[in-house]
Amino acid sequence: MSLSDPHTRFPLGRRAVRRMGYGAMQLAGPGVFGPPKDPDAARAVLRAAVAAGVDHIDTSDFYGPHVTNQLIREALSPYPDELVIVTKLGARRGEDASWNPAFSPEALTQAVHDNLRNLQLDVLDVVNLRAMFSVHGPAEGSIAAPLTVLAELQAKGLIRHVGLSNVTPTQIAEGRSICPIVCVQNHYNIAHRGDDALIDQLAQDGIAYVPYFPLGGFSPLQDAQLDAVAARLGVTPMQLALAWLLHRSPNILLIPGTSSLGHLHENLAAAELKLDADTLAALDRIAD
Ligand SMILES: NC(=O)c1ccc[n+]([C@@H]2O[C@H](COP(=O)([O-])OP(=O)(O)OC[C@H]3O[C@@H](n4cnc5c(N)ncnc54)[C@H](OP(=O)(O)O)[C@@H]3O)[C@@H](O)[C@H]2O)c1
Repeated sequence: MSLSDPHTRFPLGRRAVRRMGYGAMQLAGPGVFGPPKDPDAARAVLRAAVAAGVDHIDTSDFYGPHVTNQLIREALSPYPDELVIVTKLGARRGEDASWNPAFSPEALTQAVHDNLRNLQLDVLDVVNLRAMFSVHGPAEGSIAAPLTVLAELQAKGLIRHVGLSNVTPTQIAEGRSICPIVCVQNHYNIAHRGDDALIDQLAQDGIAYVPYFPLGGFSPLQDAQLDAVAARLGVTPMQLALAWLLHRSPNILLIPGTSSLGHLHENLAAAELKLDADTLAALDRIAD
């Protein structure tokens, strides 16, 4: 696989993007709150990602809040036509950095306008509704009311495509009865595989699956088996974890997050790795 290989693309709204993208959450300050220590370095990571061929960036106006989107605008606007920026709504940060549900029509409408202003866009490419029934993972509850608000904002031309995040199969089915859903963004990685069946179903339906915490999130993956296989192949454990995801299913689009130029290039290079059946079988045992 290679970043320039057309077979490594999958549809995400208005275009098929490369399967190796970039998640911008790590660019805000500690705890995803406030500005980073070195905003120039954060902007340099964004520019380097796009220069290396990344055409899919994941963000939210509640990262910072506002900070990550403002960094993206400062670094990348005016945006290349091929760049798909995906944002998410559904939370508001408290002054204590807490993550609070924000699903009223007023809050969602405000969030769309905040994203448009901070990213300096006339229309948002893809907006994920981030369910907040539980902050720790998907939990049942109807998403009909907030999703209907997003569908109305889509009809007004402020949003091109809608996705869902932190959701169950029941909520995805409910969502698809309200408007087309182009992507699902849930917690998934080589050691956290609760969505295995869902990923296969979404692949059949032509819907992108975008795992968040692909490297384990705030505490990156640590696993002896992952380390051993990586050492045998002469790659890093993080590269191997990303390559495994790319092999897992063709509808998986990656958004590894990093604030480091070195890690960015290391992660992008994982798109080049080809894993054989024995290696994949060894890696599959990690989730056991
Ligand atoms: N929908 C949701 O609810 C939700 C929730 C969380 C995240 N997200 C999205 O998903 C994206 C990815 O998740 P994430 O950034 O939280 O977690 P992640 O990609 O799993 O891991 C990020 C962590 O790994 C480190 N890292 C990255 N590359 C590395 C490498 N090559 N070697 C060693 N460490 C490395 C980063 O530190 P350094 O900065 O030092 O590299 C950071 O601590 C986010 O950026 C965000 O856009 C969505």
